[in-house]
Amino acid sequence: SSTQQLCKPSLKSPNVRDDEYADVEWDNLGFGIVPTDYIYIMKCSKDDNFEEGQLCRYGNIELSPAAGVLSYGQGVYEGTKVYRKEDGRLLLFRPDENAIRMRIGAERMCMPSPSIHQFVDAVKQIAQANRRWVPPPGKGSLYIRPVLIGSGPTLGLAPAPEYTFFIYASPVQNYFKEGFAPLNLYVEDEYDRASLGGTGGVKSITNYAPVLKAMSRAKNRGFLDVLYLDSVNRKNVEEVSSCNVFIVKGNVISTPPAAGTILAGITRKTVIEIAGDHGYKVEERSIPVDEIMDADEVFCTGTAVGVAPVGTITYQNKRKEFKTGIDTVCPVLYSTLMGIKTGMIEDKKGWVVEI
Ligand code: COI
Repeated sequence: SSTQQLCKPSLKSPNVRDDEYADVEWDNLGFGIVPTDYIYIMKCSKDDNFEEGQLCRYGNIELSPAAGVLSYGQGVYEGTKVYRKEDGRLLLFRPDENAIRMRIGAERMCMPSPSIHQFVDAVKQIAQANRRWVPPPGKGSLYIRPVLIGSGPTLGLAPAPEYTFFIYASPVQNYFKEGFAPLNLYVEDEYDRASLGGTGGVKSITNYAPVLKAMSRAKNRGFLDVLYLDSVNRKNVEEVSSCNVFIVKGNVISTPPAAGTILAGITRKTVIEIAGDHGYKVEERSIPVDEIMDADEVFCTGTAVGVAPVGTITYQNKRKEFKTGIDTVCPVLYSTLMGIKTGMIEDKKGWVVEI
């Protein structure tokens, strides 16, 4: 099949013992690529149907130099994590939400996309095939990265004539090398992340390279990451390069609305629900940057980042310090979320999917 032209299909079906582990220093994981055993590849034919996908040995994939994604950025990606429970079972968290988001993003980028069933089944297959790379309980997770690209050749600006969906996986622990230390953020007031009518609300690959400039500038100034403002008035906070943002004031938790320019985070959506269950009033509304500078507490959410406390925000030479530590909201939400994801807290919502 055409999938076989892209990679070497696996010679043997993966048959990994439940208690088998890859040779990894589990205590030294960060958030970087560790090549695992298998990737998953599924191609889409001209009639917009995805053929049956296939597990292949981990390695490079072959692409036309004229692939639409390479010149014109036609692509979307996802991220989700697999946790290993004490009893060896592998747990996924709301993978259908990733599937739906990929479909919405693909539609925005003029691409066909796998069905929800195809997506979730593929994620399960890649996790199972790479199961010896899922860290031991408490040592992190296997990060799963599904990607959908315009792989067919096109010279003129047009949707690619062919699409490829692939997934790879890498064992990870903390996204920021500082671990759970509070984040120091810099409010960007020159470069924008997303614009009204743009693609900021979907996980288009084109949303990410443009933030690198602001990120590296902030890093050079000693900050960990960047908080972006709305591109119209540079007045309301939007999100951080790799995660959503929440503020706490008294009993009210607020986050900017995911209405086009803000990535509709699955952790964001989950934390909104968990915070409500914990008795907080949760508001999705515009948050002026002046208001965030007056918050009691600020935290970020994302699949890679988790729920991370913000220690300081610097805006136009003003540096504000926020409450962090055990008496704050962030660790409560974090431990509830992690408890559910890792099977330590009963999942009453049907969020956890066992592989
Ligand atoms: C995730 O949180 O999973 C993402 O995809 C964000 C990425 C910048 C690591």
